Amino acid sequence: MLKIQQNVSLKPYNTFAIDVKASFFVVVTTEEELREVLLYNKITKPFFILSGGSNMLLTKDIDALVIHIAIKGIFVQETTEDSVIVKVNGGENWHEFVHYCIRNGYGGVENLSLIPGCVGSAPIQNIGAYGVELKDTFLRCEALDIKTGEKKIFSKEACNFGYRNSIFKTTAKGEYVITCVYFQLTTKDHQFQTGYGAIEKELQERGIDTPTLKEISESIIAIRQSKLPDPKVLGNSGSFFKNPVVSSEVFVKLQQVYPKVPHYVLDQGLVKVPAGWLVEEAGFKGKRYGDAGVHDKQALVLVNHGNATGKEILALSQRIQITVLEKFGISLEAEVNVI
Ligand code: EPU
Repeated sequence: MLKIQQNVSLKPYNTFAIDVKASFFVVVTTEEELREVLLYNKITKPFFILSGGSNMLLTKDIDALVIHIAIKGIFVQETTEDSVIVKVNGGENWHEFVHYCIRNGYGGVENLSLIPGCVGSAPIQNIGAYGVELKDTFLRCEALDIKTGEKKIFSKEACNFGYRNSIFKTTAKGEYVITCVYFQLTTKDHQFQTGYGAIEKELQERGIDTPTLKEISESIIAIRQSKLPDPKVLGNSGSFFKNPVVSSEVFVKLQQVYPKVPHYVLDQGLVKVPAGWLVEEAGFKGKRYGDAGVHDKQALVLVNHGNATGKEILALSQRIQITVLEKFGISLEAEVNVI
């Protein structure tokens, strides 16, 4: 029996720990329950899907039925000589899924260790870290159409994945709820991605030449813990901004003034500049305005020191955007969803 609660604080349900209220709130634990709520709710009021709440900034109370997705379960679907297909329900915690893979010797998601959030939200922004993105192991996902409750299957191609992007953030935004994701993982001859500078250094420091899945995961966890705040301790949503991509002309001018600017050269004369570096150079690293702040070890992460409101965090992000634009002529785009 579904229990709809009223006036529920969403503080425990978003990693920024912003205390806004949902006028109605329901937890669904199966696909059938989700369909039931979608269809029932169509006739009544608007709704809002919330799973891990790890990539959003809530700036106001939500006058809708908030549906918290808690559909659990991980199932091996198929095994071949060197790979396995695993179905993971949307409400599974992402890191617990990574941990399951490491325990079972399944390769492909170890670089994505310790990313907050749920499996069902991961495809929306094609989560990525240390040279690996969700799309690299993603096979397909299932989603319910919010209007009709019908199930639809999305292949990798249909998802149109890009850097922190997919159709679920663009053309199909707000139209579907992802209920489960199928991953193809390796069971032998794993293709480790250890080329990322920080991983190589961490493995070297640990005296590891030929790492195992577990050793890579442990190294990534150590790197992340050294600069990214634990949302359970300090509210945050990971990278607040995307790393901006600029033309080589803009980049060359920037490099003349700041010869040490870190960057990654992309195709088509484009260059990616780390937003964290821009925010730090603009003087915001470790700054605090009331309870809204910029993390002292990674300027890309905005933090809630306790009782910041979503509006205060948003105001800080806008102040940063304006300063970076004035100083470098580069626009920073928010990576988190501002609600
Ligand atoms: N940097 C600074 N100051 C800072 C932060 C970074 O100068 O305060 C410089 C670093 O020195 C480095 C460069 O910026 O030269 C890049 O930093 P880092 O390698 O830490 O990665 P990032 O670009 O800051 C991205 C992702 C992270 C992901 C890491 C590792 C985005 C927006 N962020 O961060 O993703 O964990 O790479 O792959 O692409 C997330 O999306 O929430 C997230 C944490």
